[in-house]
Amino acid sequence: MKKALLLVIAILLVAGAAYGAGTIVGSKHDVRGAIADETTTQVCVFCHVPHNAATTWGGPLWNHANTLSTFGLYTSATLQGATSQPSGVSRACLSCHDGTVAINSLINAPKDGTAGTLTTMAAGPARLGTDLTNDHPVSITYRQDLDSGLRANVGATVPGTVWTAQLYGTASPYTVECASCHAVHDPTNVPFLRITNTASQMCTTCHLK
Ligand code: HEC
Ligand code: HEC
Ligand code: HEC
Ligand code: HEC
Repeated sequence: MKKALLLVIAILLVAGAAYGAGTIVGSKHDVRGAIADETTTQVCVFCHVPHNAATTWGGPLWNHANTLSTFGLYTSATLQGATSQPSGVSRACLSCHDGTVAINSLINAPKDGTAGTLTTMAAGPARLGTDLTNDHPVSITYRQDLDSGLRANVGATVPGTVWTAQLYGTASPYTVECASCHAVHDPTNVPFLRITNTASQMCTTCHLK
């Protein structure tokens, strides 16, 4: 009985490490840390707001100013799916990560504290810029019917052996977005990965390689 309980706890711990259960508070997405003179105590407000949020683009109850950039898109001789300008949740990420819009450029300012100086993301690997030709395609259709190297998808997900990958959109063809691979709130699997990529198991969920 005791052994069985320990086994259950061990399995839960392993699962926790694989899927993560961390908090955004204190992580790199607690972006208060990236703005020197920011005094709000709030963490969520840089991305979400409970009222008067953006409704036509971005993430849920989205509070971050949109990027107006036109992005360079990944292409190759073997690519089968169709790419388009980043949309939906990928655009939400790029509104900070393309480096053109300040991290604290918001639709609704926080009601506590005084707004910090407008600060764009510091140069470095996290600032992807507007040239996405050298990045894994996003807002790309998941076309297993055209590319047999992709695992079959079931609706908006790709069931793998260790993990089910999230696709986006409301109808087929569904798309791969930044958040298919990244868990924006959870720093457990650095850098904000939905599951650990040990032995590239995240990649092999979608790619039969
Ligand atoms: C750096 C930006 C950012 C911050 C800060 C942030 N979120 Fe999010 N949040 C997102 C994005 C992007 C999505 C959409 C994710 C997706 O489509 O998978 C999202 C989705 C959500 C969702 C709906 C989907 C889900 O995961 O349940 C909830 C609820 C949510 N966030 C709550 C919060 C709360 C509460 C906080 C503060 C403690 C917070 N978020 C902070 C970017 C952020
Ligand atoms: C959520 C599913 C998903 C995950 C996870 C994923 N990919 Fe992809 N990847 C795709 C799709 C869809 C394409 C576009 C394939 C096509 O249309 O030919 C693609 C394209 C690619 C391409 C370009 C293929 C070409 O023909 O130019 C490479 C290389 C690649 N992925 C590698 C990776 C690696 C490495 C990882 C892990 C870090 C990964 N992928 C994770 C879905 C995924
Ligand atoms: C409100 C601005 C903002 C939004 C929106 C945002 N990020 Fe970030 N992100 C940051 C900042 C700031 C950092 C830290 C950059 C640095 O360390 O130079 C960061 C870092 C990261 C990192 C690197 C983490 C590490 O451990 O090195 C990843 C991965 C990441 N973000 C992915 C995403 C994805 C995916 C989305 C959308 C689902 C997103 N971010 C949306 C501001 C944002
Ligand atoms: C196919 C999966 C996949 C997609 C889609 C994806 N990423 Fe990543 N991303 C990763 C992986 C895996 C890493 C870690 C790479 C490593 O360990 O070297 C990473 C690393 C990062 C980093 C850290 C900087 C770096 O070079 O290591 C940032 C920031 C980031 N991603 C943001 C984004 C944003 C923004 C998008 C959408 C425009 C996006 N990612 C789309 C898988 C993905």
